[in-house]
Amino acid sequence: VVGRDGRIKAVGQADVIRHQFSGATFERIIDCSGKCVLPGLVDAHTHPVWAGDRVHEFAMKLAGASYMEIHQAGGGIHFTVEHTRKATEEELLSTFRHRLERMQRAGSTLVECKSGYGLSLETELKMLRVIQRAQGSLDIGISSTYCGAHSVPKGKTAAEATDDIVNHHLPKLRELQQSGEIHVDNIDVFCEKGVFDLESTRRILQAGKDAGLQINFHGDELHPMRSAELGAELGARAISHLEEVSDEGITAMARAKCAAVLLPTTAYMLRLKQPRARKMLEEGVIVALGSDFNPNAYCLSMPMVMHLACVNMKMSMNEALAAATINAAYALGKSDTHGSIEAGKQGDLLVINSARWEHLIYQFGGHDSLIDYVIVKGKVIYQNERCGTM
Ligand code: NIG
Ligand code: FE
Repeated sequence: VVGRDGRIKAVGQADVIRHQFSGATFERIIDCSGKCVLPGLVDAHTHPVWAGDRVHEFAMKLAGASYMEIHQAGGGIHFTVEHTRKATEEELLSTFRHRLERMQRAGSTLVECKSGYGLSLETELKMLRVIQRAQGSLDIGISSTYCGAHSVPKGKTAAEATDDIVNHHLPKLRELQQSGEIHVDNIDVFCEKGVFDLESTRRILQAGKDAGLQINFHGDELHPMRSAELGAELGARAISHLEEVSDEGITAMARAKCAAVLLPTTAYMLRLKQPRARKMLEEGVIVALGSDFNPNAYCLSMPMVMHLACVNMKMSMNEALAAATINAAYALGKSDTHGSIEAGKQGDLLVINSARWEHLIYQFGGHDSLIDYVIVKGKVIYQNERCGTM
């Protein structure tokens, strides 16, 4: 039962609930007999605001080019930055909304959304405004991330870009946050060899934390950088990727309760070594999942992400579901209100057209016929016509 305030009022057996609410009137009753109800999925890592797809680079990668070779030759993130700078706010908003709707249909009810294809203050703010406008006009939940340190802009050194972020971007962001013009939740940096080194990453993350943002960054993806150790030391909420994390980094993250956001689509598409999910789980790290939707990894579906996590990272289906709901909510600092079906929490739910919820993972790419309803704050935001006929 979800109340008019959008919060879960009660969870339990149908007869007990019927008795408990015998005098109540309901706006809508959904018969879920023979079906499963799950918490709405939480996507803990996406880059969904951009112009300029990179299908041509996908072909180059299939022919043998590596992610970093393309990046260093001026493609990759640089390509998308060029196109995103040229795009108008309206154009970016329109494609972003369309992507959010697709995520929603795949069961996501809360999504982390990064800026990071502007790199200049002007375009970073344009992206953050786009995220905010979508947040104001759609039901899907959004956690907004400033990722001005996604790449070193052309014509600048990493040291110059770091100074620009710390001395200009973050003070402006703080000013706009205080005046209520913009709302940002997290700060991100791409901590990687040839992008931002450990010391630049430390400066930017610390400055972001001082500006009131939660630390949630890219680390230890292509090279071991000791990003996990740094994140644990700075009190990061979450670190993403971690294909190359050290044993000490894993121990430090477990101790610091810093979530590991694993991104199975990226490891799969770039043919990276898989992050050591089993070791992280055994050591007590809070393991979450994200789609990493971006022009390099074009996947909007958390059920497919869960499937890849199970097959390639050897997670169980239960672990994958926890990673894509309550643990992903934790990575965004929202596990008190999101990520599980409990009285008092936000009424974000999925109805699965199967008596066993595991079909959502087992049927790879089958979510378009399995997710019957997507509900946010008790409101049906998507109803699947295909399910009725099954
Ligand atoms: O998480 N690794 C850095 N950032 C993204 C990729 C962004 C891009 O290539 O456009 C990621 O995979
Ligand atoms: Fe990413």
